[in-house]
Amino acid sequence: MGKKIQIAIDGPAGAGKSTIAKIVAENLGFTYIDTGAMYRAVTYKAMLENIDLSDAKSLEKLVLNTSIILKPSPSGQLVFVDGEDVSQLIRSNEVTANVSQVAAHSNIREILVAKQQQLAISGGVVMDGRDIATHVLKDAELKIFMSASVEERARRRFIDNEKRGIPSTIEKLQEEIAKRDQLDSEREASPLIQAEDAIYLDTTHLTIEEAANEILALARQKME
Ligand code: CDP
Ligand code: CDP
Repeated sequence: MGKKIQIAIDGPAGAGKSTIAKIVAENLGFTYIDTGAMYRAVTYKAMLENIDLSDAKSLEKLVLNTSIILKPSPSGQLVFVDGEDVSQLIRSNEVTANVSQVAAHSNIREILVAKQQQLAISGGVVMDGRDIATHVLKDAELKIFMSASVEERARRRFIDNEKRGIPSTIEKLQEEIAKRDQLDSEREASPLIQAEDAIYLDTTHLTIEEAANEILALARQKME
């Protein structure tokens, strides 16, 4: 068995991060950690409690009083907020439309980043998000910056939504994704940028299997 390394995967929405990270983790016997789910969980609860999403102090109080638990399961990672399984609820259009506003608050990021670092402490993890290589796991042995054209990412999300019964159009999704990418890349606190030591992987013309195999090959080199 090779070394238990940390693998960081960052990139914009729909690049394929979570799908591919999950496969890589399964193949290596590592734990997969979807950090976006934590920002979604906070956004979900704040909306449920009618909290002003621009009010950093109220959001901080909410986060400190909320239990957010990520649990691996055969169907992917499950997310529990105060004991309730919200894995599907946090993927709604409403949460998706507001999550970048919540994720822009540096005090909220600090709390969630500490939790993420704790989860990765023993190694053997594949973690995906926006600031994993640049902030959360700065010393990760393998860093990937995954992207794809915005048209392809919107097309993928459209197919996902159809399967989940979430109403959408490709045009609206393209707009939503471009807006979220802009907010995530231009915010002051840990913006979405490629780390200097990250490898760029464009998945526009790659199948899921091809992309996963590229990362697995790189990971196995690092694990020797
Ligand atoms: O799955 P999708 O690409 O739609 O997004 P996600 O990974 O669930 O992340 C949702 C949002 O959370 C992102 O658009 C970011 O605003 C925020 N996020 C972040 O700021 N930092 C992370 N490490 C992960 C997510
Ligand atoms: O996590 P992220 O937002 O980066 O993307 P994802 O949720 O893993 O991928 C969005 C959709 O694109 C999923 O349904 C994947 O199955 C699909 N996908 C694909 O068709 N081809 C790829 N090379 C990567 C992802």
